[in-house]
Amino acid sequence: FPVDKANYRHFMAKEIHEQPEVMGRTLARYVDVTAERIKLSQELPFHFSDIQRISITACGTASYAGSIAKYWFEQLARMSVELDVASEFRYREPLLRKGDLAIFISQSGETADTLAALRYAKTQQVHTLSVVNVPTSSIARESETVLQTFAGPEIGVASTKAFTGQLMVLAALAVAAGKARGELSESDEIRLVRELLEIPRLIAAALGSEPQIEKVAREIAKSRDVLYLGRGTSFPLALEGALKLKEISYIHAEGYAAGELKHGPIALIGENMPVVAIAPYDQVFHKTVSNMQEVAARGGNIILMTDAKGASEAIAHTLATIVLPDMAATFAPMVYAIPVQLLAYHAAVMIGTDVDQPRNLAKSVTVE
Ligand code: G6P
Repeated sequence: FPVDKANYRHFMAKEIHEQPEVMGRTLARYVDVTAERIKLSQELPFHFSDIQRISITACGTASYAGSIAKYWFEQLARMSVELDVASEFRYREPLLRKGDLAIFISQSGETADTLAALRYAKTQQVHTLSVVNVPTSSIARESETVLQTFAGPEIGVASTKAFTGQLMVLAALAVAAGKARGELSESDEIRLVRELLEIPRLIAAALGSEPQIEKVAREIAKSRDVLYLGRGTSFPLALEGALKLKEISYIHAEGYAAGELKHGPIALIGENMPVVAIAPYDQVFHKTVSNMQEVAARGGNIILMTDAKGASEAIAHTLATIVLPDMAATFAPMVYAIPVQLLAYHAAVMIGTDVDQPRNLAKSVTVE
């Protein structure tokens, strides 16, 4: 990936559009396309059957990739996962069992808190595995196993292609874990690998929603507060959506588990408050629809990100429905990340902030 903006106005826009290619490169490394199998298990210095618990540690956007992976490890490999932001992990004396697995996720591989968390984990005799984009970084050098994301240089401060790259690596790892533990059969693995191989095409299709998102961003840009809601793996994506928006547009945004709406954020909803609902047609879709109805009843403006089936069954009136391509639900966050990123990007462009270098933020936080 050449380090210039090509024909884009910002690095962030270019990096958002590079995601089909990033996913393709990452797949080429972790998937045997001919055999339709994950190419990972043989090279890991541990066996997933010997691991009782996984701990995942990261900061910022990378921590949301970890949150999504927690659902995958639980669902596909029936493994229990504990997730922490690195600044909490490193100071809270976490209990790690000798021989268990600690995963660290970092684009730069230099984030001070994540590096300190890795060093702590090493004193506890656990296996350490890092998912990093920069293979020469400190975190990569000091980890027992390194799984690289192939995002190429990411210049925009707000992480985009590194995030989906992290998700792809973690998805492949969760499938490998499920297979190694006997939770997934060979045909399950083949089915899931096929789903992963579809991701570059699905992301390219999701990028097609950009003109519509640009229009919605005009509404968002006028708002003081925006709420993002999701359930299941869409919940961490809602957190990521809110983070992206606040980082680059300076609009106050919060992500919430849709089921928690009643426990607080509903008090904020009044006329025209934008609420972004991330709701692929999965087994919790109808639950999110009832939350949308609660929002609509209070005059909130719903921006729904869903698929064709979801769009036809969502009863609440929406300000906009962004229809994403049909896909199996498991890996939907990799595709739904695209409209979430584009919405933040276009809102920021409309407001006129410094999108690639937002105030007060650094690409890599190497001091505490
Ligand atoms: C900074 C960046 C974020 C990034 C986070 C973690 O806050 O602005 O985009 O997610 O650091 O960085 P890392 O390099 O460890 O993924």
